[in-house]
Amino acid sequence: MTNREPQIVVIGTGYVGLTTAACLAHLGHDVVGVDVDEAKVWALRRGEVPIVEAGLVGMVSRGLESGRLRFETSYEHAAGDVVLLCLPTPTTAAGDLDLSYIESAARQLRDVLEPGAIVVTKSTVPVGTHRDLLRWLDRPDLAVASNPEFLREGTAVHDFCHPDRVVIGAADVGVAERVAGLYRSLSAPILITDLASAELVKVAANTFLAAKLSFVNEMSRVCEATGGDIDEVIAGIASDHRIGTAFMRPGPGWGGSCFPKDTRGMAALGRQHGLELPMVTATIASNDAHMDHIDLSIRTSLGRPLADATVAVWGATFKAGTDDCRDSPALAIVRRLAAAGARIRLFDPVARPSVAGVEHCGDAYDACDNADLLVIATEWPEFGEADMNKVARLLAAPTVFDTRGILDPAAVAAAGLILHRPGHGASWAGVSNRDAVGTGSGGPR
Ligand SMILES: NC(=O)c1ccc[n+]([C@@H]2O[C@H](COP(=O)([O-])OP(=O)(O)OC[C@H]3O[C@@H](n4cnc5c(N)ncnc54)[C@H](O)[C@@H]3O)[C@@H](O)[C@H]2O)c1
Repeated sequence: MTNREPQIVVIGTGYVGLTTAACLAHLGHDVVGVDVDEAKVWALRRGEVPIVEAGLVGMVSRGLESGRLRFETSYEHAAGDVVLLCLPTPTTAAGDLDLSYIESAARQLRDVLEPGAIVVTKSTVPVGTHRDLLRWLDRPDLAVASNPEFLREGTAVHDFCHPDRVVIGAADVGVAERVAGLYRSLSAPILITDLASAELVKVAANTFLAAKLSFVNEMSRVCEATGGDIDEVIAGIASDHRIGTAFMRPGPGWGGSCFPKDTRGMAALGRQHGLELPMVTATIASNDAHMDHIDLSIRTSLGRPLADATVAVWGATFKAGTDDCRDSPALAIVRRLAAAGARIRLFDPVARPSVAGVEHCGDAYDACDNADLLVIATEWPEFGEADMNKVARLLAAPTVFDTRGILDPAAVAAAGLILHRPGHGASWAGVSNRDAVGTGSGGPR
């Protein structure tokens, strides 16, 4: 190795890889992003960012202008000192993670890397993947490391630049230190550990977060059944510092490209090792049950057969701030309603996923035109600021189901609309007790 700056290569320029490449260039590194999608690479070279992610367009264009960031389609350009694998690891039919993208990349890297290069998994992978990676690379002069990524879509650039921690796993502390060098200018703790532990951290963290959401959603169902108010309950329990306010909000059920995949991956890991992991399997089953419950609640609030109904749906992405619809709970709602015969008028600010029987509308109000029910499926802030009087004039029936709890109950009630939302049992009779006395909705937001 010479004293020159290390060349960083990022393989895969999707949500994780593009953010990683652009942010590392921003930190002053020389970065090459390699992707097999030629159209994407050509667009990126022109500074066109194919995903919706706050701050990413500016990061990419500044990287291109500075000359520290470039994009290539061929592995001939992947001969970096540190190579970060940001490739898909989708779920297989058996529930574990498909490592074929990692294997394919490793076999191509084998022919181009210089001795001493480090191949790092940033993709979420099952524990033990480092052994497969070493086998696929089949080069004793190369090292491997694990550096799981924790960024959240919608705030990916911010999360990359201000992480709670950076986790690096390696068999050799010198290798770990070289990977840690990428992040030295960030003011974040760098946790160096062994390879297996680093690989486990990401899946364990996501399984824990999913469990937290499953718990809150279960509590919302308890509130509905007993007349409790989930906002009040959350305010009461989240103020205990051992519990905290993060991820303490009911919704339509968790989804997205990570939680379903990672929880299933953890369950598969248990099966492979003959371990009972009842919390993990219950977390998944609880989410499935919650999605069934939301579907039934929406149908009940509609009060007529879905085959005779038009339903306006606001939101298709799995969360606000992204165009990602992978495993989106919003789309799960849409698909279930459409499959039961409802006409769906859908509006999302950034995504237009193709779903049979769904009409995409020009804006949120257009979606409401003559609909029998409005369902808010994604928490885009603009939905929370919508003119509910206008919504009330457009709807054919005065009913709103806010799966995300983003509407102001007082404004909805003032517009003459009936509001349904998870965790508010009293709302089934109209407005909740608290709204009726004008206190609005409390609790952590
Ligand atoms: N999306 C997230 O929020 C997030 C967060 C943390 C971790 N992860 C993990 O990171 C990994 C990547 O996720 P993502 O959401 O960025 O995926 P993605 O699908 O958005 O991006 C993957 C990219 O890899 C490219 N690609 C596929 N095969 C390739 C190959 N052989 N060589 C080069 N490029 C190739 C694709 O064209 C695509 O651009 C996954 O393991 C995921 O679980 C994702």
